[in-house]
Amino acid sequence: MRAVVWHGTEDVRVDNVPDPAIEKPTDAIVRITSSAICGSDLHLYKVLSMYMDEGDILGHEPMGIVEEVGSEVTQISPGDRVVLPFNISCGHCYMCERDLQSQCETTQVTEYDKGAALFGYTKLYGQVAGGQAEYLRVPQAQYGPIKVPDGPADERFLYLSDVIPTAWQAVKYADTPKGGTLAVYGLGPIGQFAVRVAKHFGVERVIAVDLVPERMELARRHGAEIVEWSDDGRSAAAIKELTDGRGADAVIDAVGTEAHGAPVQSAMQTIASRSPSAIAAKLMEKVGSDRTSALHTAISTVRRGGTLSISGVYGGAATPMPMMELFDKQVQVRMGQANVKAWIDEIMPLLTDDSDPLDTESFATHRISIEEAPDAYKMFQQKEDGAIKVVIKP
Ligand SMILES: NC(=O)c1ccc[n+]([C@@H]2O[C@H](COP(=O)([O-])OP(=O)(O)OC[C@H]3O[C@@H](n4cnc5c(N)ncnc54)[C@H](O)[C@@H]3O)[C@@H](O)[C@H]2O)c1
Ligand SMILES: [Zn+2]
Ligand SMILES: [Zn+2]
Repeated sequence: MRAVVWHGTEDVRVDNVPDPAIEKPTDAIVRITSSAICGSDLHLYKVLSMYMDEGDILGHEPMGIVEEVGSEVTQISPGDRVVLPFNISCGHCYMCERDLQSQCETTQVTEYDKGAALFGYTKLYGQVAGGQAEYLRVPQAQYGPIKVPDGPADERFLYLSDVIPTAWQAVKYADTPKGGTLAVYGLGPIGQFAVRVAKHFGVERVIAVDLVPERMELARRHGAEIVEWSDDGRSAAAIKELTDGRGADAVIDAVGTEAHGAPVQSAMQTIASRSPSAIAAKLMEKVGSDRTSALHTAISTVRRGGTLSISGVYGGAATPMPMMELFDKQVQVRMGQANVKAWIDEIMPLLTDDSDPLDTESFATHRISIEEAPDAYKMFQQKEDGAIKVVIKP
């Protein structure tokens, strides 16, 4: 089959690789019909390359048609249309029973002391072959795959794999009080859907921060007030001004470690990503530091006693944090990978509603063949050509 394969830092290619096959009775094989590229894939493209091996298949936002199931898989059958959550979880362990599927104890990657395995996401998360490919082996298929109805286009349901549950969890964790204000940093797919979900939940004021004009415009169309990101403190001042000088009641960081405006850490990430992987991994484990311009601004613009909800991914072991500010302001902080399966029952009615209230079907900016994926990674990293969400049609 054809698959999007990692070859090195900023080097992604489409290769012929062996078709996957059932290996365990809890596996399924899915023929992929749509598979999105995620902001998280950009971390693998560069920052986390020390945890990748040449030949790793990328992708954790896939959906398709079930081809084959193992003997213990009864919740889905060949021919079913399914979306695959990015985290691989069992549904019956201590963590899954508590709706913490991203910490699943059956698939946890104990070698690296990490949570649940993820599709297409480094040795830290199990090095499981990803879904930017024609076929995907799905472990724990007795629980993971989400059955969706026939009819609407793939893009109506595709973002159940990651984007919508992540945004949903971000908004839930932010817990904006009634009549309050939510600030959202970063208007990639996660931030865009956080704005929409917050509006759906009735959050009165949503202030959204980014620096890419078309992303700011899209959020504005969905009801957000826009503040343009700037390095010099002006965006923080603007948010204070909009909130009686106090700051927002709740803040979501949907940016993560590749934030603009952190030149020193940015150079360090580049050096680490180009070092031999054993040295780079040690660097990351001991002194690796994130680009925190968005996170620190988020902290400075949440009001005293407010909530900070972090869905952007951070990976540094030695990232400096303003502990005095966090402590003195009594900030509540919640974060982590999305527990995708925990939110599906709440989200699904919005996707099966013919009026498509979250406007999912029109969200993708680019639909491409799998052969075009290497160029799409470059375009997406450079934020060129209005790219917000790229969907591969293998
Ligand atoms: N927690 C989870 O389960 C989970 C799931 C999916 C994605 N993520 C993470 O969420 C983050 C966002 O994902 P995405 O797909 O929307 O990514 P993306 O790269 O498309 O979006 C990030 C946005 O942040 C903006 N930005 C950069 N620096 C900024 C700054 N200083 N202030 C404000 N905005 C800034 C960029 O212009 C961009 O629009 C990534 O870190 C991703 O890894 C987490
Ligand atoms: Zn993703
Ligand atoms: Zn589990």
